[in-house]
Amino acid sequence: MTGHRAPRQKIILDVDTGTDDAIALLMAGHASALELVGVTVVQGNAPLPVTLSNTRKALAGGGLSHISIYAGIDRPLVRPPMPTGPGQSLAFDLPEPDLTPTSTHAVDFLVQHFLSPDGPHTVLVPVAPLTNLATALLREPRLAVRVPRLVMMGGAAGAGNATPSAEFNVYADPEAAQIVFRSGIPITMVGLEATASALIGFDDVARIRALGTPQARVAADLMDWDVRWFHQHLGRDAEIYDACAVAAVIEPGILTTRRMSVDVEIEDEITLGRTICTEEERPGPASRVDVALQVDRARFFEIMRECLG
Ligand code: RIB
Ligand code: CA
Repeated sequence: MTGHRAPRQKIILDVDTGTDDAIALLMAGHASALELVGVTVVQGNAPLPVTLSNTRKALAGGGLSHISIYAGIDRPLVRPPMPTGPGQSLAFDLPEPDLTPTSTHAVDFLVQHFLSPDGPHTVLVPVAPLTNLATALLREPRLAVRVPRLVMMGGAAGAGNATPSAEFNVYADPEAAQIVFRSGIPITMVGLEATASALIGFDDVARIRALGTPQARVAADLMDWDVRWFHQHLGRDAEIYDACAVAAVIEPGILTTRRMSVDVEIEDEITLGRTICTEEERPGPASRVDVALQVDRARFFEIMRECLG
């Protein structure tokens, strides 16, 4: 791992830990360029008790027991909870650590942190349904000018994965996503076009496992599960969706982005949760978003190796 001279970039990860969230956590917690200030947890890939337990298991197994975890909201803002996400395991087959959960609620932590002096210096990395952040914005609208940037895994300029129109994180809570996209917070949207250009295969998993660290072993076991699932169900290598967002914070240059206006469909049941991405400047609430359309896969994998080594 290369030494890092510049001050570490503070980040908060908002997760619904499934396998790819866990890889994102392990990378963020060990990256020399990042300071993982805290982890907020929401329901999504699985009910909140499971995403919480998986988050604890991944952090403890990966040598990150010192990272604070904040339990968040256990259901979408408006609609009933979703079934589990695409290709996500449920409870991790890892030892349940006896980590005492932090008593502060995730929404309170987000409000307090971004109103604090560290707020404008902390990038928020949501890789899950956006319920926690949307609720924090509703409770404390000043967050819209305190959060310097979101680097989020979610959305798609084209086809979805939860439905033909919608990507899972947005589809799981479309009203929350609309609040976030309309907030005016600068957003880097690492959507499905980007994650589909950074697929991971069994040979990559073997190279991660060969790093030999505890975090590399946990990551390899979880990615092996993912690659197996993608090969069985889709006949190809796996997206490790959330890891792309963390890599993009470490090295923004791995993304090819286009500035677009993005809004979220919340009325039509057929296209519910679609992120409508348009080139032209649109008046009104849609924000100006840097939509990632491609990831430099070689650099993405090298960054993953550097973090987990
Ligand atoms: O569509 C991919 C997203 O859905 C990822 O965040 C993955 O963890 C699942 O939640
Ligand atoms: Ca996720």
